[in-house]
Amino acid sequence: MKNRDLQATWAYHNGTKHSYESIRANRHYLDWDNQPIPFKIYSALEPIPLPQQLSSPRMTALEAIATAAAAKTDEDVPTLQSLAEMLYLSAGITRRRPYPGGEILFRAAACTGALYHIDLYLVCGDLPDLPAGVYHFGPHDFALRRLRAGDYRNVLSQASGREPAIANAPVIIVCASTYWRNAWKYQSRAYRHCYWDNGTILANLLAAAAPRRTPARIVIGFIDDAVSRLLSLDVNREGALSLVALGHAPSQRNEPAPAVEPLAFETEPLSKSEVDYPAIPAMHEASSLESEAEVVSWRHEVPAIVPFGAASSSSSSKSRLIPLDPLGDEEIPRDTIEAVIQRRGSTRQFTRESISFKELSTLLDRGTRGIPTDFLQLDEAPLNDLYLIVHAVDDLSPGSYVFHRESRALELLKEGDFRREAGYLGLGQEIPADCSVDVFFLADLDRILARFGNRGYRAAQLEASVVAGKLYLAAYAQRLGASGLTFFDDDVTDFFSPHASGKSVMFLLALGKSARRAARVS
Ligand SMILES: Cc1cc2nc3c(=O)[nH]c(=O)nc-3n(C[C@H](O)[C@H](O)[C@H](O)COP(=O)(O)O)c2cc1C
Repeated sequence: MKNRDLQATWAYHNGTKHSYESIRANRHYLDWDNQPIPFKIYSALEPIPLPQQLSSPRMTALEAIATAAAAKTDEDVPTLQSLAEMLYLSAGITRRRPYPGGEILFRAAACTGALYHIDLYLVCGDLPDLPAGVYHFGPHDFALRRLRAGDYRNVLSQASGREPAIANAPVIIVCASTYWRNAWKYQSRAYRHCYWDNGTILANLLAAAAPRRTPARIVIGFIDDAVSRLLSLDVNREGALSLVALGHAPSQRNEPAPAVEPLAFETEPLSKSEVDYPAIPAMHEASSLESEAEVVSWRHEVPAIVPFGAASSSSSSKSRLIPLDPLGDEEIPRDTIEAVIQRRGSTRQFTRESISFKELSTLLDRGTRGIPTDFLQLDEAPLNDLYLIVHAVDDLSPGSYVFHRESRALELLKEGDFRREAGYLGLGQEIPADCSVDVFFLADLDRILARFGNRGYRAAQLEASVVAGKLYLAAYAQRLGASGLTFFDDDVTDFFSPHASGKSVMFLLALGKSARRAARVS
């Protein structure tokens, strides 16, 4: 089984690390004349316009973010209206900004380089107002395009090893990347970005599903080949990353699907030419699952004997634990998730002002209440540990910390002003030095790969980015700012060691007060 040849992950991960030296030695430049378009456009397929009006069930953003999964009712079949809203809030165009020579169409979820390489597909049975089929979602004209007519859900059910949420879902969303759209700028490191940028979309999708009372579950255990064939992906250029089961319709029988014939629909060229980065499809292939039996046993792998999580990796002194002090349900800001997603945008400049300990606590508390996935139970310790560099939080000493999820507390690792160090760790950018707090997600890849094989790499990257996506939203819900960042891998681990020794960095998020917002207010 390819998935068990763990050298593949280490070769990819180590080969795409950033270091001071690797950045200086890299001769890559941005070929603006060859920049790919940020959309997959099926030129010859008729658009099926989606309803444009956005309703709001009026759930507060912080409640929506904290909802691990909507409670299942007997039958929950989303309408086209609610599907359109969930697609808009996760991958739709929310802002347009002109720039010399064009316009940037910003999306609901943050994305590395605003390059938007993730597409969403819908696989559904007959819905009240949409016939069964396989559809592609086009954010550029907010429309679906039908790739296949008929009920193909059984293909995904089988590919997922009859994962119960998928098997009972009236609608399944499949997320897939077209690598070149991101690799144009980030080269081979773009495979990490597949999961980073999928995770922020999924955080939004989960938060959009909660107020609509639509059960949602992320599934990453599936036969890759079967999913790629269903969507007719070009596996050298594209990869299916995740499935999301939406709704619950056990009464709909699992009909055998029609045969999955090859498709030959034209898509618009992305750019004049494309450059291959073979490490990307190679890593995807190495972490692929090949049969239903393999998927089932992958999912039911015996949980690690030693639980994952920060608490397990140190002999922390109880006296150094600082309990979170989050806002209660009555005190949280009342802005709805729809309002927060629509005003979200990554902070380009932070003010260096303090945020309150309550704001930080609320963020961490609401963002880390678990995500519904097929690779971890909600009550299992997550794959990533959260390490913080605190620059400016009222009533909290500046320094480095690790978050204890179980006890909802921060442990001080080292006191000090680390703005300069944080700026360096975040690739020498100003954002990580000027924000109030940097949150690093670190994972013990040895243990994760031992349990999940190479696919554990996908799981660790995705888990980090879904939680980071939730923190992004929790910041904006409190009128704070946030930005994802990239980093010098080994230097981050060294900075948090010995506590973090042996762990690998999966994600970095800066949080604080946005300079632009402050200017607007004053
Ligand atoms: C995982 C991740 C990493 C990012 N890294 C950086 C970074 O290193 N520097 C930066 O200025 N912005 C970074 N960003 C912010 C993106 O540039 C931003 O999300 C994108 O331009 C889209 O804008 P928006 O988030 O305002 O919608 C990152 C975003 C994500 C999701």
